[in-house]
Amino acid sequence: MTPAARIEAAIYLLEKIDTERRPADDIVRGWIKARRFVGAKDRRALRERVYGILRRRSRLGWHLENENFKASVRGLVIADVILSDRDDPSEIFDGSTHAPKTMNNEEERLALALVGKHLEDPAMPGHVLVEIPDWLANSLKKFLGERFMGEMSALNQPAPMDLRVNLARVTREQAQQSLNKDKVATEPTPLSPMGLRLAAHSDIARTKAFRTGLIEVQDEGSQLLSLMVGAKSGMSVLDYCAGAGGKTLALADRMGLMGGESKGRLVASDTEESRLKRMDRRLERAKLTGLIEHHVLSDGDDWHADNEARFDRVLVDAPCTGTGTWRRHPELKKRLSEERLKDLCATQGEILNKTAPLVKPGGRLVYATCSLLPEENEAQMVAFLKAHTEFEVINWHIVWEEAMPKIPTPEAQRGHYLRLTPARHGTDGFFIAVLARKS
Ligand SMILES: C[S@@+](CC[C@H](N)C(=O)[O-])C[C@H]1O[C@@H](n2cnc3c(N)ncnc32)[C@H](O)[C@@H]1O
Repeated sequence: MTPAARIEAAIYLLEKIDTERRPADDIVRGWIKARRFVGAKDRRALRERVYGILRRRSRLGWHLENENFKASVRGLVIADVILSDRDDPSEIFDGSTHAPKTMNNEEERLALALVGKHLEDPAMPGHVLVEIPDWLANSLKKFLGERFMGEMSALNQPAPMDLRVNLARVTREQAQQSLNKDKVATEPTPLSPMGLRLAAHSDIARTKAFRTGLIEVQDEGSQLLSLMVGAKSGMSVLDYCAGAGGKTLALADRMGLMGGESKGRLVASDTEESRLKRMDRRLERAKLTGLIEHHVLSDGDDWHADNEARFDRVLVDAPCTGTGTWRRHPELKKRLSEERLKDLCATQGEILNKTAPLVKPGGRLVYATCSLLPEENEAQMVAFLKAHTEFEVINWHIVWEEAMPKIPTPEAQRGHYLRLTPARHGTDGFFIAVLARKS
């Protein structure tokens, strides 16, 4: 692809990302896969441009607004070529085959006005500099205090790729050696005892370790969450918002379910059948087929009543804004609205109320989000504990020491709940609360 054809493809992809709800990764991967002419260098350049613009979007958008230019993807790309590459966009937007069409008068006016300017401008407000929506800045600033700028900039950096080793099948070192043979270099993750971090992004799906179910792609924060559930062999465990089963598989590993022996009950439920279905291939690879119960949740079924006080552990990996995953999914920033946050908070409250009775006396409810917003985290816990006096919080230090006695507790925000953050822990942002049902 010519440099201009890459820019034209980036415009197409950014427009698609803006209009569809699918993850940007799916959109970019799907486009590349359908075009055999896209080589390795093109892929890298395309990803850098698309993700780069998603991560520079507020600053680029500020320049467009400052020049009274009506927001558009082409406008953002023109601004990026000038402000990030210091190139002349008229050499790219030349209308030749596969190149973007020539700039119109307004775009030429914008290009002219931006020459000599810098991506960051002293007049930019803080939320623009750290690339977060205006309406979220106050709540996050209040909550994070002096850590606000550091946390927000860490959230705007590309994330490393982490793998979870299936410890029931191999040791971390054996998985590492197998990956080495496929020319994939990894390091042990700093906190999770079952994690490997890739030195550089690579196509994991082609490795023997992946094909044979020895590893799964999973952020270190998610691995730590599954450990904090404290699932053990012989327990009854429910992964209530299981989705495609990222945490379910890790819980099965903890419970020693591999190998066909039944060592407890593990149930994966979700309201979306299609998501649960996506778990099947992963279960097959991990040799877990038939060992995990699936349940599609629907209003008015008897399932909740039938399962009252049945579980030693209930994990609620709640639907949330995903603000903690913005390193991987910068497209989510634009898709989030105050209304969406309000709806999600209501759903989280409902889920907590529905799952509380499922926990056995003496059992635990583990509530987690991949969000940094106190509305979805501490505020939910305040409301829950007020309404459910049969529950009490277990301080996260105690749970960590039980689950990972050999790994010192990391430095974290003070309080009962564990908050993992990109700036402090190098993981996605996570909130983890462990609540015990009084006996
Ligand atoms: C954060 S995702 C779960 C990710 C999953 N645990 C994993 O590790 O891959 C949240 C899930 O909650 C599900 N969900 C949404 N509303 C729900 C509800 N009312 N009850 C149960 N699950 C719900 C969504 O379908 C989604 O799969």
